[in-house]
Amino acid sequence: MEKSKGISQILDKKVNYQSKYINKGDSSNIDNLNLNIRSSEEKIYLDIGEECVINATINMGNCNIKIGDRVLINNGTTLYSVNEISIGNDVMISWGCTIIDNNSHSIVSSERLKDLKNARKEYEKGILGENSDWSCIENKPIVIKDKVWIGFNSIIMKGVTIGEGAVIAAGSVVTKDVPNYAVMGGNPAKILKYTT
Ligand SMILES: CC(C)(COP(=O)(O)OP(=O)(O)OC[C@H]1O[C@@H](n2cnc3c(N)ncnc32)[C@H](O)[C@@H]1OP(=O)(O)O)[C@@H](O)C(=O)NCCC(=O)NCCS
Repeated sequence: MEKSKGISQILDKKVNYQSKYINKGDSSNIDNLNLNIRSSEEKIYLDIGEECVINATINMGNCNIKIGDRVLINNGTTLYSVNEISIGNDVMISWGCTIIDNNSHSIVSSERLKDLKNARKEYEKGILGENSDWSCIENKPIVIKDKVWIGFNSIIMKGVTIGEGAVIAAGSVVTKDVPNYAVMGGNPAKILKYTT
């Protein structure tokens, strides 16, 4: 598909953050947002509410990321979506976290060879991964509900729902749903206790 001018600008990283691809509440700060959209669909990809500070790197395929109000995402955190990541209100996500709703590549070696075939050329054009065949790559939406706190260097994997008010201890790898107000930690993360 031929790319529109707007999408080409995004691929060139000359992003106009108030573009038709992004909704942002006027009171939110995204000065240190690093946004990479690897898709040629004409749509809104990123919806940020009011009073947020979003200092993340956000890598997006043809997906939707919805961020509520009063959300803080600290430097060094990466969101990587080809499906959907939904973040509620009053959420804190510390530094060095990764929230990824997909496997990036197939677990089947013959299918991964297709990704490698054009990788160097794509990289040189700044479009690495844009031609990946996502039909053979697992992905599932991630939901992070209101009042969640995610500790530094944590990893949130595809398909996980983190319940309201839950706390993810630093350095956790979360592969399963987290109940409301649970404190989860470890790799894979397990319930440590409950809070309020
Ligand atoms: C989640 C956290 C806040 C809980 O603190 P706490 O309530 O004081 O918990 P405790 O230190 O009493 O630990 C409770 C249990 O969880 C375990 N635990 C604590 N942190 C853990 C971690 N990161 N991974 C795995 N287990 C952990 C403890 O070993 C203890 O286990 P035990 O009951 O078997 O002895 C804290 O562990 C944490 O991760 N802090 C980092 C916060 C952060 O990311 N700050 C950056 C700025 S946003």
